[in-house]
Amino acid sequence: MTPVQFLKSLTDGGVEIKDKAAVILGAGGAARAIAVELAMAGAKRISIVNRSRERGEALASLIGNKTPSNAVFTLWHGAYRPPEDTAILVNATPIGLYPNTDQKPDIDYSALQGGMAVCDVIPNHPDTLFLREAKKAGARTFDGLKMLVNQGVLGFSLWTGREPSAKAMEDALKKEFGILSD
Ligand SMILES: NC(=O)c1ccc[n+]([C@@H]2O[C@H](COP(=O)([O-])OP(=O)(O)OC[C@H]3O[C@@H](n4cnc5c(N)ncnc54)[C@H](OP(=O)(O)O)[C@@H]3O)[C@@H](O)[C@H]2O)c1
Repeated sequence: MTPVQFLKSLTDGGVEIKDKAAVILGAGGAARAIAVELAMAGAKRISIVNRSRERGEALASLIGNKTPSNAVFTLWHGAYRPPEDTAILVNATPIGLYPNTDQKPDIDYSALQGGMAVCDVIPNHPDTLFLREAKKAGARTFDGLKMLVNQGVLGFSLWTGREPSAKAMEDALKKEFGILSD
């Protein structure tokens, strides 16, 4: 993922990032790209929640030292409760990825609220249990399939100098994942 892809889903949806608090579950490659992007867009605090200390602390240090955002690391063990001021919550772990579609990140879902933007990196199946819980709480949700499409659109245009059809790319992925039939 390059910086524009993740934010595009949010900014297309009119989500404000500047001066907002964000929580990212995970500290791998996807989390890193998303954290940097959120920091560059002016998020005031980014909480990195990860089950292994080393990777989580490394990402929090990167954000805290190299960007104007505050970064906080929380070791993830047991149900994590997002702080009350969380505006953006992102699952950047593989939890829920096909075939494990019955799994969801271990968080306290009672903390989710209507004002939150809840995002999942999982492209297959995009309607994850995590996002369904968020919808139940009234949150706005952003799925990993659109994120993947944005990535494909950008890659295609950088490689070819031509603008592809995002809809054609989305339909092709949906067919691949068995969400759309021919
Ligand atoms: N939609 C898109 O465009 C897009 C793009 C890139 C990636 N993705 C998706 O993003 C996901 C993550 O990819 P990645 O490249 O960031 O992987 P990664 O570098 O391997 O990082 C995975 C992260 O998830 C954590 N994690 C894994 N299993 C966990 C579990 N059972 N409980 C708690 N934490 C767990 C890992 O924690 P530890 O550090 O403790 O191991 C690590 O922080 C993948 O599912 C991939 O499909 C989507």
